[in-house]
Amino acid sequence: MEILNENNIYPIFDRMMGRSDKESLLKQRSLMIWFTGLSGSGKSTIAIALERELHKRGLLCRILDGDNIRSGINNNLGFSEADRVENIRRIAEVCKLFIDTGVIAIAAFISPNNDLREMAASIIGKENFMEVFVNTPLEVCEQRDVKGLYAKARKGEIKNFTGISAPFEAPAHPDLTLDTSKLTIEESVDVLLEKILPRVLL
Ligand code: ADX
Repeated sequence: MEILNENNIYPIFDRMMGRSDKESLLKQRSLMIWFTGLSGSGKSTIAIALERELHKRGLLCRILDGDNIRSGINNNLGFSEADRVENIRRIAEVCKLFIDTGVIAIAAFISPNNDLREMAASIIGKENFMEVFVNTPLEVCEQRDVKGLYAKARKGEIKNFTGISAPFEAPAHPDLTLDTSKLTIEESVDVLLEKILPRVLL
């Protein structure tokens, strides 16, 4: 055994109850719904409205959101490239635990490039992963400036701010694209439900 495992780590996954046991218990299929987009694009607002609609239909969800996760499990991470990778890596591992528990995981993180999103998808499993690009134009996000961060970033008070002083790479092949400057939240949620319900209802 020692020879096979240099780190002395022996996972017990094969002895635990599995995902399909949990899915049967919950009477749903799990799915990862991964929102990506600029700060202020509407990711969290849509995630919250979506969760309410799924919950109403008896479906158990868990939202993971940038500002929440960064004030808890990831409170030691900043916005350098390396920290953003570690941020998304940990989030993806946590999402995977929810997926393996039969839960519908809803993530709302900027996740600003394809490499990051691909890493998340490969940790979670591509077959479980629905990528939703919240493609609200930068001008609109900046005009909304709900948290006042764009103003600070323009003044140089925040470094590496996505869309201003750090890049955002649009997803190459998102499963769905939503623009909250054109759609109401209800309309966005309706489009999402149409895609999601067939995949999560048993
Ligand atoms: S990510 O790029 O690592 O995926 P994440 O979604 O976790 O970002 O966090 C983004 C949130 O952190 C933003 O909505 C904003 O409130 C806050 N924030 C603080 N500093 C920055 C920054 N330099 N760039 C982007 N967002 C920032």
